[in-house]
Amino acid sequence: MPKKNVTRRHFLAASTVPVAAALTSTPTTAYGAAGKDSGKLAVLGGKPVRKIDLSCKWPLWGKKDEEMTLAALRSGTWSRSKIVREFEKKFAKMMGAKRCIGTNCGTHSLFTALAALDIGGGDEVITTPYTFVATIQAILLHDALPVFVDTDPDTFMINPDKIEEKITENTRAILPVHLEGEVCHMDKIKAIAKKHNLKVVEDACQGHMAEWKGKNTGTLGDLGCFSFQNSKDITCGEGGAILGDDDELMDRCFSIHNFGRAHGSVKGWGLPVLGYKARMAEYQASILIPALDRVEAQHKKMTDNHKYLVSKLEQIPGIVPRKSYPETTAIGFYTFSFRYKKEHFNGASRSQFLKALRAEGVGFHAGGGPGDQHNHAINKSDSYLEKTLTGKTFSKIYSKERLDSYRRMCDCPDNDQLFTEYVGCGGKQIFLNTKKDMDDIYNAVLKVYENRDQLAKV
Ligand SMILES: Cc1ncc(COP(=O)(O)O)c(C=O)c1O
Repeated sequence: MPKKNVTRRHFLAASTVPVAAALTSTPTTAYGAAGKDSGKLAVLGGKPVRKIDLSCKWPLWGKKDEEMTLAALRSGTWSRSKIVREFEKKFAKMMGAKRCIGTNCGTHSLFTALAALDIGGGDEVITTPYTFVATIQAILLHDALPVFVDTDPDTFMINPDKIEEKITENTRAILPVHLEGEVCHMDKIKAIAKKHNLKVVEDACQGHMAEWKGKNTGTLGDLGCFSFQNSKDITCGEGGAILGDDDELMDRCFSIHNFGRAHGSVKGWGLPVLGYKARMAEYQASILIPALDRVEAQHKKMTDNHKYLVSKLEQIPGIVPRKSYPETTAIGFYTFSFRYKKEHFNGASRSQFLKALRAEGVGFHAGGGPGDQHNHAINKSDSYLEKTLTGKTFSKIYSKERLDSYRRMCDCPDNDQLFTEYVGCGGKQIFLNTKKDMDDIYNAVLKVYENRDQLAKV
């Protein structure tokens, strides 16, 4: 297996597209620079900290992306071929994995991984309610039960100390999700998996470039699943990948993502296993290859800005940014989140706080509600989850008693609490802005805090 540190430095050195040059945002006034703005919140008619929003150009691309995409187009070979193979080699090397399979999206990376592990009806997969809907869909569409473990109040990730109590004789795998680029406690998760003979599938769809003790997320479990959808750090609009070191398992993944055709150790005439189609196309890979050259510089900029912003925000009473475990050597970027503690803001509700903050030019949000694909309390979903449990397939596989006891297992009070306090920013792109923009965010939150006595009128 390649030496990861060398590889990452190499990528940094090889990165040629100037990330900063592609960014557009220029703020107007900062609260700190402009003084206390006579102490009037913008939502009540005061002067806002900034007038333009924090978003900046995304996705980024350069000349090489255009050239490679055009070359792929003109080659006339648009389906999986040598450009996808080149991407797979490059991504595996960069991440420090033995093998990579390019797929058409993160959802299908997860589907393929679970199918390769033969997860099916009657099985339970341990995961977190704090995730994107696709994690849970992948489990349910394999007719297995997603067993929700509460979140760690500090890191917001699956609470590793609450996993074992959810293991039953039907548990087959643990599916930790490195949501928002934060890293789950992989040492504890792997130790539990080993003890109970379970597989670990990492959902690293939001976890690009994050590291646990210097190893990339997506290379720590048995299989790692990635998404390259438009909002991700590395993107080609829609796309995905699976990483793994176990040849037999990766052969199974390859075969399943390609209709079940024979591949490597998956032998046999015709279609030896049941599969479907999740292949990456050539033009997807042609956009991803240059994106890999850019991502180190991009990640460094976001890391610097994130550290800077967190170090300032955590000084404000009632603002509690998500934390990392000490073993986390790098986080990835998707959204940025913190807890809003209203007791420090004169008891003002989160929506009053957000309204005031938005008026100051900082458009943060409260996360998705029930039914939203970004709903981060999926165990409480009263739509597709409950419908699936009571639907045709599940009622044939699972007894009423089993489903009732499953429902009782799904309670996650810490996660419920988190989502009464959660505040997230729209997207990771805020960290591609300047230090001055970070100051604006801080100044806007500080201004709302300092004028919290006015929030009752908002
Ligand atoms: C945590 C997580 N898992 C899975 C997915 C699915 O990836 P895709 O949209 O590429 O299918 C996403 C996409 O946002 C995600 O955030």
